[in-house]
Amino acid sequence: MAIAPSILSADAGRLSEECAAVAAAGADLLHVDIMDGHFVPNLTFGPHVVKSLGRDCELLQDCHLMVTAPQDYAPAFMKAGAGCVSFHYEVDLDHGALLRQIREVGTRSGLAVNPSTPLDDRLRRLLPECDLFLVMSVHPGFSGQRFDERALAKLETLARWRETDGLDFVLEVDGGIDAETAPRARAAGAQILVSGSTLFRSDDYAATVSVLRG
Ligand code: DX5
Ligand code: ZN
Repeated sequence: MAIAPSILSADAGRLSEECAAVAAAGADLLHVDIMDGHFVPNLTFGPHVVKSLGRDCELLQDCHLMVTAPQDYAPAFMKAGAGCVSFHYEVDLDHGALLRQIREVGTRSGLAVNPSTPLDDRLRRLLPECDLFLVMSVHPGFSGQRFDERALAKLETLARWRETDGLDFVLEVDGGIDAETAPRARAAGAQILVSGSTLFRSDDYAATVSVLRG
């Protein structure tokens, strides 16, 4: 079970100290939410932030692109040193081509799905191209929202498809993770738990990482 602090909830003026603190607290990767003010009504980080964080912090950066044109921005994040680049199934493009392009340079590829988007056969056919699958348990855009229960059934379905289809992508869940929802997400098959507000609002990052990890 891996814990991925979402730096959207970190103190942005002390970003590199915050990353060092969560690394010291036992976090496994950094979840970096990239928003373009178009796919979601919020703005966050550009590739230069990923590049700068990578100089000081050894944690793999899991870049979650909530952008309308991921094909235009993914290469810059790969070049900046992202360990994983995920983009949304809801975006209209050739998903398979972009997943392959991400993998070609040795970056892990990921696909994300919103709470209201059903898992369909077209999505299932993309899974062999994914190193990671990100199930959103809040509507993307902001931290601090309530966990959407529909994520649990999706995690179970994806874990089942992975088994029957002989695949090995990692299952990640993002949004509303706290001491009550973390064990339920784990039981449904999540292997990476993203945590924004629960972790960064806590006084003791190490204790919170260990509670979420279970
Ligand atoms: C929402 C982001 C999440 C968010 C999670 O669009 O993708 O990563 O930061 O924050 P919490 O854990 O507070 O729901
Ligand atoms: Zn995210």
